[in-house]
Formats: sequence, C-alpha cells, structure tokens
Amino acid sequence: MYAGLLSLHSWLRWAILILEIIAIYKCYTGMTSGRAFGAGDKKVSLFLMIAAHTQLLVGIYLYLSGPWGVASIQNLGFGEVMKDKVARFYAVEHIFGMLVAIVLITIGRGAVKKAIPDVAKFKRGFWLFLVALIIILATIPWPFRAGISRPWI
Ligand code: HEM
Repeated sequence: MYAGLLSLHSWLRWAILILEIIAIYKCYTGMTSGRAFGAGDKKVSLFLMIAAHTQLLVGIYLYLSGPWGVASIQNLGFGEVMKDKVARFYAVEHIFGMLVAIVLITIGRGAVKKAIPDVAKFKRGFWLFLVALIIILATIPWPFRAGISRPWI
C-alpha cells in the first residue's frame, strides 16, 4: 500500500505541473486579451485544486506512516533532523513548501467564485498559480538534486 501511494504521489506531481502550466497560460492570455472568464478557465482551476488536494492527502499519509516524516523526527529528534540535509528536506522543507503552494492554489481557485471583474480573476489566478509553481519546482526532490534525489516518475 505504501509503495503504491508513493508511486501515485510521484505521478501526481506531473499532473499538477501540467495543470499549473495550463492554468497560468490561460490566466495570462485572459489577463492580456480582455476575454471573458469561461467554463474552460473554471475547469482547469478546479482540476488543479482537486489534484493538489489529493496530493496533500497522499502526502499526509506518507508523512505519518513512512520513514521520512514523523518517524524520522521520532528517531533522530527534531534538532538532529534540522542538522541532516536529507531528513530536514522531507520532514520540514518539502511539507512546508508544498503546504504553502497548495494554499495558494486553493486561494487562486477561490477567486473564480468571487464577484469581481473577469480581468481581476485572471490576474489573481496568474500570480497565485505562478508563485505556487515556483515553490513546487523548488521543493520537489528532483533526480538532479544531490542527496535528496528521487526518480523522474
Ligand atoms: C504539490 C504538492 C506535492 C508534490 C508535487 C510532491 C512531490 C513529491 C515527490 C516527487 C516525491 C518523491 C516521490 C518518489 O520517491 O518517487 C515526494 C515525496 C514525499 N512527499 Fe511529497 N509532494 C507534494 C506534497 C506533499 C505534502 C503536502 C506532503 C506532506 C503532508 C508530502 C510528503 C512527502 C513525503 C513524506 C515524501 C517521502 C516519502 C518516502 O520516500 O517514503 N508531499 N513528494
């Protein structure tokens, strides 16, 4: 079960990254062209939020029951975790960065339902999704990151 969810967590990263890029592109073109906020825009932000929230649930499970979250804090102690680059990444940096990103995605999606002009919806979405994307890219354990590296899929 753990291995399956870890694999799902890894695959979902790609779904989130693709949806992020589509959502940012749509917000940018909407913002610059002045077109109306349509059903397609709503759908993309909804799918992005669903993917991000699913990732959050799977992440919480991995954090609570795997070797890299709570278990590493219990085994090493918080002070030692903070001194160890790999343990700190998974127990603190990854979860903290991703939580902030998921909150930004949720607020960006929330702008869709607000009674504000369409251009303001696009603008809010653009900036919130863009900052979330930067944080996600910075806190994924990419294969090229020394020590913390994980596979592409
Ligand atoms: C957009 C959100 C997130 C993305 C894109 C993401 C991505 C990833 C990736 C690519 C891995 C490596 C998977 C592998 O080894 O094949 C990973 C590992 C992990 N993630 Fe996330 N993650 C996200 C959110 C979270 C959250 C919110 C939590 C905790 C609540 C979390 C907890 C973990 C843990 C504990 C591991 C290590 C699991 C292990 O190796 O046993 N992740 N994450």
